[in-house]
Order: sequence, then C-alpha cells, then structure tokens
Amino acid sequence: MNILLTGGAGYIGSHAAVVLTEAGHEVVLLDNFSNSNKSVLKRIRKILGRSLPCIEADVRDTDIVERVLREYKIGAVIHFAGLKAVGESVANPISYYANNVQGSINLFQVMQKVGIKTLVFSSSATVYGEPKYLPFDEDHPKNPMNPYGRSKLQVEEILRDLADSDSEWKIACLRYFNPVGAHESGLIGEDPNGIPNNLMPYVAKAASGELPHLNIFGDDYETCDGTGERDYIHVMDLAEGHMAAISYLKNHAGFTCVNLGTGKPLSVMDLLNAFEKVIGKNLKKVVVQRRSGDLPCYYASVEQASIQLNGSAFRSIEIACRDIWKFQKADNFQ
Ligand SMILES: NC(=O)c1ccc[n+]([C@@H]2O[C@H](COP(=O)([O-])OP(=O)(O)OC[C@H]3O[C@@H](n4cnc5c(N)ncnc54)[C@H](O)[C@@H]3O)[C@@H](O)[C@H]2O)c1
Repeated sequence: MNILLTGGAGYIGSHAAVVLTEAGHEVVLLDNFSNSNKSVLKRIRKILGRSLPCIEADVRDTDIVERVLREYKIGAVIHFAGLKAVGESVANPISYYANNVQGSINLFQVMQKVGIKTLVFSSSATVYGEPKYLPFDEDHPKNPMNPYGRSKLQVEEILRDLADSDSEWKIACLRYFNPVGAHESGLIGEDPNGIPNNLMPYVAKAASGELPHLNIFGDDYETCDGTGERDYIHVMDLAEGHMAAISYLKNHAGFTCVNLGTGKPLSVMDLLNAFEKVIGKNLKKVVVQRRSGDLPCYYASVEQASIQLNGSAFRSIEIACRDIWKFQKADNFQ
C-alpha cells in the first residue's frame, strides 16, 4: 500500500518508514523539519538501499497535502507530525493546539475530500493523566495534565466523532508509552535539539560527555528504588506496531485506541544500570528535586495490543541501550 507518513523524518516516523518499506509498502514522507534534520533522509537511504520521496511541507498546508495524497495515490496516512515537549506546551499552548489540533483537523479535512479514510494517529499515554489504577488500560479515565496531553486527547475525540459520522473511516489511535532505542544500524535514532526532554537521549549525551552529568529528578518516590518508573518500549517495536495497525485496519472499520508499551515498568535506576553495563563505565549522577507534574509510576496494559495487533516480541532494555549508544557514537550528522 502507498502510505503517507506526516512527520516521517522524526524519531518514530523514520523508524516506521524503514519497517514499512522493508515490509513492501511504498512510503512517502512529509515533514517541515521543525524538529528533525534533513540528513535523516540520507541515513534512511543507507539502511534501505534506496531513497524515499520526502516532501518538505507543513501539514497545515492543505494544498500541498492534497496534491501529495493524489499524486502518490496514497491509501493510508500515519500522522506523526506534531510537537511533543510537555514543558514547552505549558509555556506556549497556542502553538501546541495550532500544530497538533489544527494541523490534524486540516489533514483530516483533506483526507475526507480526497476519499482516503484509513488513518493511524500518534497518540500518547499522557492522555490518561494521574493513574486511578495501574496498568493503564484503554478504558482508564482520561485526564491529561498539560496542553500537550490535551491536544492528543482532543484529536482522539475528533477522530471518534469522525468515525461515528461515516462508517467508511478506519482509524487507530496508538497511545505510545516511552519510546527508547534506535535502529540497530545506529544510523537513525532520537537526537533532539538542546537539552533532551526524554531520559534516554539525555543519558546518551551525558555518557558521551556532551552533558556534564545526569540529573535524576527525585529518588524519594514510592517505587521499587525511589526513582520514577516508566514503560520503555523499543522504537523498533513501536514501528512494527504501526505496521500491525495498518494490517488490522484493512479488515476493521471504525475507531480504536490501543496502548503501545511493554506492560513492564522499569525505574530510572534500572535503565541507568542497563546503560552503564552497555558502555562499561559508571555515569556521573546528581539527584535533584522532583519535576512538577512527573508521576511516580505508570505502565501499559498490553492486552488489547496483543489481541488487535498480535502483540510483539519486545526487545529488551539492554538492546535499546546498545542501539542508542551505537547511534550516539556514530558520526551521523556530517
Ligand atoms: N517520542 C515520544 O516520547 C512520544 C510519546 C508519545 C507520543 N508521541 C507522538 O508521536 C509523534 C512522533 O513523535 P517523535 O518522537 O517522532 O517526535 P519528533 O519531533 O522526532 O517527530 C515529529 C516530526 O514531525 C515534524 N513536524 C512537526 N510539526 C509539523 C507540521 N506542522 N508539519 C509537518 N511536520 C511537522 C517534525 O519536524 C518532526 O520531524 C508525535 O506526534 C508525538 O507527539 C511521541
């Protein structure tokens, strides 16, 4: 199938592009490069042995999106494009709603106009907010604690209404937990600009000396060792989840939301221990105050993913650490 990946040059989109192409799909990328580097295209080409079409555009540019959908005879869209930094969303909510909600509405309008009604949407575990119980299953109450999470929930609600209004729509919202790792080649991975928001690139930058030390935000939570616990899923497992979602939608109209996690929480210390083992040295760590809004622990119920997406053999945290270290050490940006 011909599949358009909005935000396809980003961290998760680039890995999904590789997985989908290797599975025989024709992938087209659309990205405005607001949070990615054009060199990723060369590195994808190195992995695949061929280049993928990439249109530099904003998803809110409806004329270009319409042209791309028609020209490439797109059959399904995976909508990764969006802003994802929680703190930034609190400081600048309008840009988050404009990009994540308005951008999505524009895309869905064009898809409807052109008659493309198969969609996978990048949602997030942040839609759940504070746990009433754990693991989070898909029916857990939704109470996102910041504009970023609310932008994701708003798009989910729009999509639910859209599917209710027209039975031809086939929509899967994938709620990612904490993506980590990189492609095993070390050619693509997560490399955010500035100080990373996510733990793993932060650890990798501290290990390579780009950051002086590693801050641990609180070690007095009621968790196994006092540090925060999260559900870390290897980005390649996540990418394969998108392929499974596309297959699922072939035979399932309507709207569904599915968690993508491992179902197993790991603490910050678990992750650091695994990383230190991979790199063969201890990292300089400093325990600092908890960050406001951070939850002690959350993780996914993976029951629905195993039913609808046939589960997945999850790569271990050691593999994720190995892959991100390979990516961090490689000279990828020349
Ligand atoms: N990485 C995570 O921790 C995580 C967790 C849950 C959900 N998500 C969601 O998954 C999606 C992909 O995340 P990621 O980690 O790959 O982020 P990313 O920033 O690496 O990738 C997003 C890509 O979208 C592009 N983009 C942003 N706004 C755009 C626009 N208006 N038009 C065109 N392109 C645009 C960026 O340039 C970037 O290449 C996002 O929607 C994010 O909210 C990510």
